[in-house]
Amino acid sequence: MSVSIIVGAQWGDEGKGKIVDLLTKEADIVARYQGGANAGHTLVIDGKKYVLHLIPSGILHPTAQCVIGNGVVIDPVALMEEIRMLESYGINITGRLFISHRAHLIMPYHKLLDAAQETSAKEGGKAIGTTGRGIGPAYIDKASRAGIRIVDLLNRTTFAAKLRAKITEVNNILHKLYDYEQLDAEKIADEYCQFDTQIDPFITDTTLFLHDAIAAGKNILLEGAQGALLDVDHGTYPFVTSSNPTSGGACTGLGVPPTAISRIIGVVKAYSTRVGNGPFPTELLDETGEELRKIGQEFGATTGRPRRCGWLDAFALRYSVMVNGISEIALTKMDVLDSFDEITICTGYNLDGKVLKGIPADAATLERVQPVYETVRGWKSSLEGIRKYDDLPQAAKDYIARIEQLCGARVTIVSTSPSREDTILR
Ligand code: GDP
Ligand code: IMO
Ligand code: MG
Repeated sequence: MSVSIIVGAQWGDEGKGKIVDLLTKEADIVARYQGGANAGHTLVIDGKKYVLHLIPSGILHPTAQCVIGNGVVIDPVALMEEIRMLESYGINITGRLFISHRAHLIMPYHKLLDAAQETSAKEGGKAIGTTGRGIGPAYIDKASRAGIRIVDLLNRTTFAAKLRAKITEVNNILHKLYDYEQLDAEKIADEYCQFDTQIDPFITDTTLFLHDAIAAGKNILLEGAQGALLDVDHGTYPFVTSSNPTSGGACTGLGVPPTAISRIIGVVKAYSTRVGNGPFPTELLDETGEELRKIGQEFGATTGRPRRCGWLDAFALRYSVMVNGISEIALTKMDVLDSFDEITICTGYNLDGKVLKGIPADAATLERVQPVYETVRGWKSSLEGIRKYDDLPQAAKDYIARIEQLCGARVTIVSTSPSREDTILR
């Protein structure tokens, strides 16, 4: 029996989807614990590409059971689109998808508020660059105890009353602050009740479901979205998402206790990327950054936005290993570095001539740090498709060894292409 957490160790898009899909081969259950349709997890199987936003990345294994936990915020529109997409590929989800009755719903006004807040913040130069999926406003409602949950859909009368009260308040805000059109509570109530009938077979007490599975000795993967540096507590606040992608979030987001966790795998991209705004000490705004973006096809899986690119930040990674308790690293996109003569790694930060011990908590200060760099030799040959560790060129092995040394965790998985098969298990 094992319960493993798979967590993004950087700013998201590390290749979590591919790694979760790969590890699902040995798993009975895959459970998502936070975030929502802001996530975009890409799987490439037999040359076909699938992008999942809400449904766990284990769904393409025909027997794996998939859980959307209480910590996830669920957008009915996105969920139904995804279910239809899977059905159109002939993937059977009946009896395989379990959605927590405690999960909060993304409502149409969350998306409107997300867009309105970002537009007005942009004018002040303070936009976060969110995915526009309503994530922040939904988690605000959750924390302020004004959220609407899946369980609320059970009773049409109380649900409609709760929604009406909420919409009166939201219409006020949308009208007074943003000059937006008014929302119709009855129309939204109808849409959500219709959604309820569609997802009814999937709703359950996922906490109980997972505890029964743990007791039965099942192998379970807990899939994080986003990454540690986007964590609302431990990330580059305020340029973060509104949930806890770090490993602790797996426990609160699923009702699984820390004592049940046996393994924490951090997914690390061999360089760094970030979508949206916020500090990014190793960002490359030159041709090298362009090259990483081009070779790595660094465009958002959810919004299509170009991702900002830079060298691997092993200093931030060490922090991520510490905060998450990462015991093993799955290192992805090594093949993207194939053509570089030299590869640069950030080993620390300096600020005003002083060596920093930790990551500054303040974003403006983090913007000012000077990365300390070291350079290693590139391997200048194609890694694509290599499936044995011993077949890696020495320079690639040296790069991996240096990462292990700098961040204090062992690399046990190396990914050498987007495809499921092109992976080294060490
Ligand atoms: P996630 O959000 O962490 O699941 O990552 P995304 O799916 O948003 O972005 C990762 C991208 O890199 C996807 O397009 C993957 O298909 C691709 N990818 C994953 N692993 C590798 C790899 O080892 N090499 C290359 N070239 N691409 C990879
Ligand atoms: P996956 O799971 C990369 C970023 C957004 C923005 C910030 C807040 O695919 O790794 P939000 O919409 O969450 O309020 O946006 O977080 N962001 C991601 N960046 N990968 C993701 O998910 C992300 N989800 C959100 O770009 O900077
Ligand atoms: Mg992604």
